[in-house]
Amino acid sequence: MTGLPELAFPLADAPALDPDARFPALREAGPVRVRLPFGEAAWLVSSYEHVRLVLGDRRFSREQSLEGDEPRVVPMPQRANLILNHDEPAHSRLRGSVAAAFTRPGVRRIEAAVEGFVADLLDRLCAEGPPADLVSGLAAPLPALVMAELLGIPAGDHEEFVGLTGSLLASALARQPAEQTKKAGLRLWERLGDLVRVQRRSPGAGLVAELVRGGASDEETVALCATVVIAGHDATTMQIGNFCYQLLTAPGQYARLVADPGLIENAVEELMRYSPLGISTAFPRRVTEDVELGSVLLRAGDYVVVALTAANRDGAVFDRPEELELTRRPNPHLGFGYGVHRCLGAQLALLQLRIVLRALVSRFPRLALAVPAARVRWSPGLLARSAETLPVRW
Ligand code: HEM
Repeated sequence: MTGLPELAFPLADAPALDPDARFPALREAGPVRVRLPFGEAAWLVSSYEHVRLVLGDRRFSREQSLEGDEPRVVPMPQRANLILNHDEPAHSRLRGSVAAAFTRPGVRRIEAAVEGFVADLLDRLCAEGPPADLVSGLAAPLPALVMAELLGIPAGDHEEFVGLTGSLLASALARQPAEQTKKAGLRLWERLGDLVRVQRRSPGAGLVAELVRGGASDEETVALCATVVIAGHDATTMQIGNFCYQLLTAPGQYARLVADPGLIENAVEELMRYSPLGISTAFPRRVTEDVELGSVLLRAGDYVVVALTAANRDGAVFDRPEELELTRRPNPHLGFGYGVHRCLGAQLALLQLRIVLRALVSRFPRLALAVPAARVRWSPGLLARSAETLPVRW
């Protein structure tokens, strides 16, 4: 206990994708005591320098964080056996078994398939509208299709897989009863189990086959595949929608990409810096030994949460940090985290985002929101911040 006053964090009513208005002051202040809606109080770290230090230093442990009452924005503590929840050396062992599939050359192997999925989804959007909803028509199904391809799920089973992951994730965000989440989770586990057995009998292409060939047990393979499906799907869906919202509401920015699609690769990095994935923090860490951060002494056993969005707008690192500048370079943003837990799926997510934007600007050069920006509905709750629907015309 520090005896310091605690700030309530995050603010429930931060509008649209705007970052918390308190971030400039919080960055200045150094670590401050905060209380999230559930679990113990924590230190909130907001400056770029301190966020990077916490995420890159082994004295801040994920494993020990889970042993206590983690600070969090949802009632249930998250105890799943995910890569993210392990420290070294267990973390590297787990991550090493899937890492190759997620490198830039690794994900390039499915580039043509991703382009095909995007083209098909846009064909369907065209048949439906204008107007049509970019979230249900593109942002939601695409990452599930891509994951199915990456795992090696036969094309005939893709639709079922899209339904299963959609159902699992919608309920995880509390949009449907817990019973349904459990059912969807069990079904996903079962289907991944079937896939492992098939691949063991006659190995084909995809991540499951590679894991089986690499000597992983059935159980390990299913758990790893479920991890990447769960960790990867929603974030990508949210950022596809959020990037489109940013581009269509910031004057002239979409037109800029239409005029110069060569800018897209750079623009995707800047959109990642600029668009908060959620209004909360990355997963909490627990201090394993006393550490001095700025003028504050964090004690062993204290919890620490980092605000990636605040770090990504730190004027000490980024010129004019509050501006969306699609040509910004260099851009050492922390949108995928930092250190050993930096997002495993970053290259896969970037690939999808680049392909989506390239397809949109070439097919719909006059794309625009079909409703006023103020009428876009945002996801409820504190876990995630994304447009529920994004009606567009072209
Ligand atoms: C735009 C989309 C995405 C964003 C913004 C994103 C963001 C992040 C962030 C910030 C972290 C670090 C969390 C922390 O340290 O507390 C992370 C970790 C992770 N992400 Fe992503 N992610 C995205 C897509 C994906 C995809 C497509 C996958 C699928 C493979 C994925 C799998 C993971 C995994 C497995 C981890 C944990 C890595 C580890 O502990 O070593 N993510 N992601």
